Formats: sequence, structure tokens, C-alpha cells
Amino acid sequence: MALRERYGNDNVVATGRKTEPSPALRDSGPFYFINVTNRAAVEEVVEKHDIDTIVHMAAILSAVGEKNPELAWDVNMNGMRTVLDIARDRKLTQVIIPSSIAVFGPGCPLENTPNETVLKPTTMYGVTKVCGELLCDYYVRKYGLDVRGLRYPGIISSETLPGGGTTDYAVAIFYDAVKHGKYTCFVREDTRLPMMYMPDCLKATMDLMEAPFERLKHHSDFNVGAMSFSAGELAAEIKKNIPTFTCSYEPDFRQAIADSWPRSLDDSAAREEWGWKPSYDLATMTKDMLKKLGQQHKEGKL
Ligand code: SER
Repeated sequence: MALRERYGNDNVVATGRKTEPSPALRDSGPFYFINVTNRAAVEEVVEKHDIDTIVHMAAILSAVGEKNPELAWDVNMNGMRTVLDIARDRKLTQVIIPSSIAVFGPGCPLENTPNETVLKPTTMYGVTKVCGELLCDYYVRKYGLDVRGLRYPGIISSETLPGGGTTDYAVAIFYDAVKHGKYTCFVREDTRLPMMYMPDCLKATMDLMEAPFERLKHHSDFNVGAMSFSAGELAAEIKKNIPTFTCSYEPDFRQAIADSWPRSLDDSAAREEWGWKPSYDLATMTKDMLKKLGQQHKEGKL
């Protein structure tokens, strides 16, 4: 929807694999169901609409990837290659392929993690994202394709529930706070991870898309920070707004994944090369999330 607002409804073709799009998305412009590992299906839409830019968001995230590593490899690697090959062969203008904080793992500094460091992730999701960054940079060098990507932290949205990630608790906590006044969190209270509110994620993505190519020294692997907080600090911030809210902690297999990821990021490359600057911190994001979800709950939409 943000891309449609910026570039015009008919200029943005939305796709999904199976999940029904919101009525707003379905009714405001073209929409197709396609499987990103099916080159012919993707190419048909590219051809039909004379697509010049692909924003490739399809991926299996960290937690689901650990349950089904083969599927994560297939979607994340083969899906990405489909998109890159179509873009190369049809000489598209630009491809955006996000990466993730999941590229990091043991051996890298977890505080203020630099852009350039050891990348030895322990999840299949992380493995595919490291390979993906390298593959994207290869297409830039070898074929002159304009590929760009950022390492998204946990993304918090009032519109879309996350699916299958380790950072999902930071979204689910808001829904449960509004609906039930309590939440059981699947990581420990002291677990601290980098997070970003959706409006900042959209801004980061579009700012990177529009940055002059000549200014970029990096291409597919920008750290982007916005805020870092522990699960306990998030719960305390929600409690400031909903005093009766309670949170308990029952860590599961996702704790080990969270513990292997950075607690905060050094995003100076993004700041220098394309002027990245976030707008939301924990307090302003929490207020806005609770306001938006509170409204949806009142209207019976949650
Ligand atoms: N949100 C993702 C996950 O938790 C990280 O990129 O898997």
C-alpha cells in the first residue's frame, strides 16, 4: 500500500502465494497469486505489466526455517535466483531483496554489530540470507544489475501479523495486550534485539530504492537500526499505557536463535551512503501500535 501511495496504484503489482490480501490491497490495484520458485509464473506477470522493478519479499523466516530447512532453502535461495535471473535476462531497472539480522551468529560482536564482520549464522534462514547477500552482490558485479538490500531487524506492524520469525513476540505482545491484557512471551525477559516500526521499515526501503547508485559502496547488506529493547522493557512500556497488563516468560527453541543475534546495530554505512535516519523509538512506537490496534479491536477487526 505504501508503494502504491508513492508510485501510483496501477504502477504497483502486488503478489502473494496463498494468503488472501486485504480488501484495500486487492481493490486498489493489480494483484496475483504466484509461487516465487516458479519462473514461468513470475515471468508472466513481469511481461504482462512491463515490470521494471521487483521488490522481492517472499521468504521463510528463522523459526519456520528450523522446522523445515529444505523448504527454507528452496524458497529463499531458488526464489531469489528466479527473481535475479528474470531481472538480469530482461534487463530490469532494479531489484530490492531484503536481508536480515539473521546473517549474524557466533563470532561477531553482539553490541553495536558492525556492517562488516564475521557472518556465521546458526539457522537455515541465516545461511540463506548470507548466501543471498553474496549472490546479490555477485549479480551487481558480474551483470551490472542494480540489486539493493537491507538487513531488516524485527519488524513491528499494526497491519500484518508476522509469520514464523524469532522476533514475532514483539508484535504478538501488542495484539494480546489489547485483546486479553496479558501475554506469554517465548523468549526470556532480558532478551534484547534490534527492532523497527513498520513506517520506518517502509521509509528505509524506499529511501534505499531511490538513492543514487553512484553513492552506494554497499549494495545488498546494509545494517539498519532503529531501536533495541529487551522483552521486559517492551512489556514495561506497554504497562505504562495499559496498567493492568501482565507478561510472563516461557522460553522455547527460539531463545537460542535470539541469543545468537545482535542486541544492537551499527548502521553508519546506511546513514552515510543514503541518509538513513529512523523516526520511531520504543515509546512512540508503543503508543502508536496501541492506538491503532485499540481502534481495530473496538471495530471488531482483531
Ligand atoms: N524477523 C526475522 C525473524 O525473526 C528476522 O529477520 O526470523
